[in-house]
Amino acid sequence: MKDINIEEKEREFQAKIDADIKIEPNDWMPAEYRKTLIRQISQHAHSEVVGMLPEGNWITRAPNLRRKAVLLAKVQDEAGHGLYLYSAAETLGSDREASIDDMHAGIAKYSSIFNYPTLSWADMGMIGWLVDGAAISNQVPLCRCSYGPYARAMVRVCKEESFHQRQGYEIATTLANGTPEQKAMAQESFNRWWWPALMMFGPTDAASKHSALSMKWKIKRVSNDELRQQFVNVTVPQAELIGLTIPDPDLNWNEEKQGYDFGTINWEEFNQVVQGNGPCNKERLDARRQAKENGMWVREAALAHAEKRKAKMAS
Ligand code: 3HC
Repeated sequence: MKDINIEEKEREFQAKIDADIKIEPNDWMPAEYRKTLIRQISQHAHSEVVGMLPEGNWITRAPNLRRKAVLLAKVQDEAGHGLYLYSAAETLGSDREASIDDMHAGIAKYSSIFNYPTLSWADMGMIGWLVDGAAISNQVPLCRCSYGPYARAMVRVCKEESFHQRQGYEIATTLANGTPEQKAMAQESFNRWWWPALMMFGPTDAASKHSALSMKWKIKRVSNDELRQQFVNVTVPQAELIGLTIPDPDLNWNEEKQGYDFGTINWEEFNQVVQGNGPCNKERLDARRQAKENGMWVREAALAHAEKRKAKMAS
């Protein structure tokens, strides 16, 4: 039997959500609300940090200094997004180190998309254009999320994602309008990234285990399937504009729904990647674990310095 007091607090909480009043760190909130936000925000942060790896692979191999500088700036932005989001999760009482260790142990997730290899320079275009484009579709509604710190963090993140998407589409456009070899490179890359980008939006609404509560609490403002549909509707014309063919024989404009019908996603592939059996899952987690080990001396030195200063201030 629920405590009357708790029931009253839950009613007041839901009334604030329904009135679009932001929930702030010191406000009362249901334990489940806190828990699902820590889950989502920390996994979002993990995605940003792991997302640096596929692109970092091409910084030293960019075709010219301008492309190198732009890619470097983008990857640095992703690091900042990760730190920003870990901080947002900490406002809910999340332990940053523990959540990072959960990711390293394969307990906490990060976005499936980052478990695919980056095999050509064209992949840098597809990641910026498609992956960051999908991230924008998913993150713009998060700017209206009921939890204040997350919503505010998303405003800045989305502004930077727009730059990421534009630089990616510029790479794709340059290659698609280039030599026959460059156009073929762009099409081959597009064929590899199209379907994994659609998987980024998560399982179907019917299969989603968090959507009902996330929508009730206005964490999720638009459903997985609706965002996926929006992304397809926006991206297909962009691909056609630069002469790329969508690798989906079932893609078809549906006049009635004013959107594209598209083929079935390979959910077995999605589940395998999410469960850790994707092409690069092991490589990504090894790299993250290695980075933590290699950086331990910096942490230890910084903590030792902080302890020394604290002791000196106390004496
Ligand atoms: N990859 C890995 N796991 C996924 C996933 C994906 N693409 N989509 C869903 N999942 C997981 C969920 O985390 C959940 O597992 P969990 O209970 O262990 O956390 C399970 O599948 C069920 O999915 P639901 O749809 O029910 O879960 P959510 O309601 O949390 O919706 C989400 C999933 C849409 C990804 C949501 O968590 C979300 O909007 N997250 C914030 C945005 C985000 O994390 N984007 C990832 C990309 S970040 C990025 O691309 C950076 C850019 O700068 C490049």
